[in-house]
Amino acid sequence: AAPGGSAPASRAFGSRPVLAGTGLEELFAWVDEIAALTKPDRIHWVDGSRAENEALLREQVAEGKLIKLNPEWRPGSYLARSHPSDVARTEARTFIASEREADAGPTNNWAQPDQIRATITPLFEGSMRGRTMYVVPFSMGAVGGPLSHIGVQVTDSAYAVTSIGIMTRVGTSVLEQIAAGKPWVKTVHSVGAPLEPGQADVAWPCNDEKYIVHFPETLEVWSYGSGYGGNAILAKKCFALRIASVIGRDEGWLAEHMLLIRVVSPEGRKFHLAAAFPSACGKTNLAMLRPTIPGWRVETLGDDIAWLRPGDDGRLWAINPEAGFFGVAPGTGESTNVAAVETLWGNTIFTNVALRPDGDVWWEGLTDEVPAELTDWEGKPWTPASGRPAAHPNSRFTVSAAQCPQIAPDWDAPEGVPLDGILFGGRRATNVPLVVEATDWTHGVFLGSNISSERTAAAEGTVGELRRDPFAMLPFCGYNMADYFGHWLQVGQKLRFDRAPRIFQVNWFRKGSDGRFLWPGFGDNARVIDWIIRRIEGAVPAVDSAIGRLPETSDLNLDGIEVPASDLDALFEVDPDLWLQEAALTEEFYRTFDGKVPAALYAELAALRYRLKLA
Ligand code: OXD
Ligand code: MN
Repeated sequence: AAPGGSAPASRAFGSRPVLAGTGLEELFAWVDEIAALTKPDRIHWVDGSRAENEALLREQVAEGKLIKLNPEWRPGSYLARSHPSDVARTEARTFIASEREADAGPTNNWAQPDQIRATITPLFEGSMRGRTMYVVPFSMGAVGGPLSHIGVQVTDSAYAVTSIGIMTRVGTSVLEQIAAGKPWVKTVHSVGAPLEPGQADVAWPCNDEKYIVHFPETLEVWSYGSGYGGNAILAKKCFALRIASVIGRDEGWLAEHMLLIRVVSPEGRKFHLAAAFPSACGKTNLAMLRPTIPGWRVETLGDDIAWLRPGDDGRLWAINPEAGFFGVAPGTGESTNVAAVETLWGNTIFTNVALRPDGDVWWEGLTDEVPAELTDWEGKPWTPASGRPAAHPNSRFTVSAAQCPQIAPDWDAPEGVPLDGILFGGRRATNVPLVVEATDWTHGVFLGSNISSERTAAAEGTVGELRRDPFAMLPFCGYNMADYFGHWLQVGQKLRFDRAPRIFQVNWFRKGSDGRFLWPGFGDNARVIDWIIRRIEGAVPAVDSAIGRLPETSDLNLDGIEVPASDLDALFEVDPDLWLQEAALTEEFYRTFDGKVPAALYAELAALRYRLKLA
């Protein structure tokens, strides 16, 4: 073999790579160990090549696992239909197996590591019989980048392999990193559907029993029984959020459920924003925003995950560790997110959307006009009279980020971008104004810890039942959420006071007393971004309120839209009584963490109450 660790020029398709000097003994031994346990018929080492990807797609079509879409409308694209029971992340079956229960905290399902290993090992015993075990080396972030991390997934799902190929950087260059001694995360995935000799396969193999288990101390993920992306593309939620949040805790950085954008002002000045929103609050839409105000431009850097690390310069640097988008299809349309629609022109794997008679796809919200006939996500005939959605509400597209028409030209830059602002948002009918600026980092962390959405339509004069989703990380924080709040405070201390990103809370969903949305949203959210940027630039004043800094409404650019003055007032109304009710709920929430919530956040809460009582 050639010196320097490069792969030999030729080898059998899918065979174990030969690297000089190796350094891969640990990987080889681990793969052998998993194979001895799961007993696959074959092992295929994935090299990430185009030819390999095409072969895997062809094979899945031949096996009835993918439907090839009409290349005239959707070249290089496929439709997968999942088992009807395997359509989403299974939070109840997701575990953090830390040595100490307190390290998982009250918001995670904790499992004792030895015990859960004893539970899941028998499930993996022979679980890949009759199937191919793929070994997929991947990098999160550009290969070799200073903020990047690598891992290996073994899986018996070709669908997972082709999805990982879109969502991460897969290939032999990652093996070179492992050979050079870079630490790597071990992830094991089996759909839990072994095949007896001669047994026919099904379109979407999975198992009723599911386990998504994270071992933060040994940097491992074991996922069993599900083929759904969030449970099967282990690089994404499992590694890049749950495991990475623990690595970040120990190394002084943050793994966040955030989109990442560059905003270019009419004068050509560039600003970088990261934003955390719970699922179903328009995160992908904001990531691909088309501003309705002239002169402004948004470049997309990421739509779901951002890794944030304090730099030597006192700024907070961010990368999107992913290479693709795994987005929700319904509600993505010409009128809501043109950039996403344009991204999906081809080379896309769709899951659980509807199929048109012409061999293209459709989902609710793609077009205003509803097709007269479709095949629904379960493969059944569908018409508008069917009385059920044609696409599953959590149907998805998996597509390379590079295909986005407004992707930042340097989205792949290993060092990332310096953040100017961080936005926290939720879906709140009441209380939370369209935008409010934190007074400082600690207040910003307080706002992040209080992200919530109304579970029920709130009646006027009450705060609806709140679904708490601190930092939009509730299902994704791999350790005790209260320690995580403390970690956020500590990261702030590593930033230079005048260079730390400014923190804002936004809410596109506030309603009037008549139940109507008060703000048009979508492209008009650029008007809020415009104010945020001008605050960052120090170009506009703000009005101090009990809950933070509010815009002078005359500073909002509302050219070209009609927002009645009364609606504008209502968008920013701070009702002290309602806010005191909310503060009581916050205290109740903090109390669920057994006294672990940092004192600085209790101090923020006390200060808020004090200001509200004066108001
Ligand atoms: C996602 C989620 O799939 O947040 O991105 O649920
Ligand atoms: Mn997400």
